[in-house]
Amino acid sequence: MNKINTLGRSLKKVGKKIRFYGFWGLIVSCILISQFWGQPALTQESVTITALINAGEVSYWKELIVKDFEKENPGIHLEIIEAPNATDLTENLYTAAFILGDSPYDLVYMDVIWTGKFAAAGWLLDLSDRMSEDELKVFMDKDVEAGRYKGKLYRIPLRSDAGMLYYRTDLLEQIGAKPPETFEDLIKTSQQLQEKKATRWGYVWQGAQYEGLPAMFVEIIEGFGGFWVNSETNEVGLDQPEAIKAVEFLRSAIDKNISPPGVISYREEDTRRLFVSGESAFLRNWPYVWATANEPSSEIKGKVGIKPMVHIPGAKSGACLGGWGMGIAKTSKHPQEALKAIQYFTSKEAQRRFTLETASISSRRDLFSDPEIIAKYPHYPKFQKLVESAVLRPPIAQYAQASDILQRYLNAALSNRSLSVEKTMKAAANETRNLLKS
Ligand code: GLC
Repeated sequence: MNKINTLGRSLKKVGKKIRFYGFWGLIVSCILISQFWGQPALTQESVTITALINAGEVSYWKELIVKDFEKENPGIHLEIIEAPNATDLTENLYTAAFILGDSPYDLVYMDVIWTGKFAAAGWLLDLSDRMSEDELKVFMDKDVEAGRYKGKLYRIPLRSDAGMLYYRTDLLEQIGAKPPETFEDLIKTSQQLQEKKATRWGYVWQGAQYEGLPAMFVEIIEGFGGFWVNSETNEVGLDQPEAIKAVEFLRSAIDKNISPPGVISYREEDTRRLFVSGESAFLRNWPYVWATANEPSSEIKGKVGIKPMVHIPGAKSGACLGGWGMGIAKTSKHPQEALKAIQYFTSKEAQRRFTLETASISSRRDLFSDPEIIAKYPHYPKFQKLVESAVLRPPIAQYAQASDILQRYLNAALSNRSLSVEKTMKAAANETRNLLKS
């Protein structure tokens, strides 16, 4: 009996042990199985890459680019961080981040004028062997060149920009005037319209002390047949007669009340708002204005013309080459994924969607003949020639300092009537010469 009891107890213990080990065995097996199944998920763990994008473009990027990019690349999350709208402020953000060491941005969305500085400082990955010459052929040459520094490629172009003259077709019709070709036409037509009280202001442009000022000024200086800096010879043209005339033209536009006195503190958006609300007959700005000027709520929808900038008889129209492209931060931990993103951003489909919504100019040549884009923006094919002949701001490593010098002196010459234009521009030219020597 005892033996039977002992046997029963032993069996119970064995049963308990089996239940105990069975339970834990099951748990361990589950963990192992889940780990096994989880393995692919771990290796495909999503990688986050970051890009700092100008405030005005953020909603377009999120809607038109990020969603589809992430759908096509499930392992990559593209995080968009909002930058200010002014290019100088964004440049400062990058500079501060790069100087501190590890960049918080993998992708570097760059203005056309930053390549030299960022590349010379060693902040960008050399992309020369990551894009073949054939792949680069789809873009306009000037946009590609703007991404090179000392023969190496650091920036892939996305969108181009070129300064344009916008005008009110309805107002010109009222007085039977043609769109202006020369500086004189621009002044005369503005005055006629103002006399008739058809418009409050004649011509608005960017006169604030920021990067938009040299961008606007290279167009005026080119229209007078002059130059700022010749990047091959380091010659400086700011105190030459053509440059003096260019400053005098802008000053006289204010003095004659054609441009508002406040123009010396206007940036792109200030001038766009004035034009779109019907306050000015002419506007100097980039192609993006077309979309807002023609949206349903616009006061001037369907009454807008666009043409190359005015010039003196015998000189050429100057369109400043602007534009934005992508580089990769040298310290990025995900250069492969960043490159994949650039390849997606520059794809025909992504560029077409972006162009159709924003009216900006794609750097891709094949979109200039795209029927859908032309149907929406009939003037679009003309942009190709304009960009191809656009004027570069000097592609030099000291560009930021050269621009700062011009901004300070030019804004002073436009704001302060007691300053002599000649003396102010001589000082600007000499300071630029010293900079280029150093
Ligand atoms: C636009 C241009 C850029 C230029 C800036 C000036 O964003 O694309 O090249 O520097 O305007 O405000």
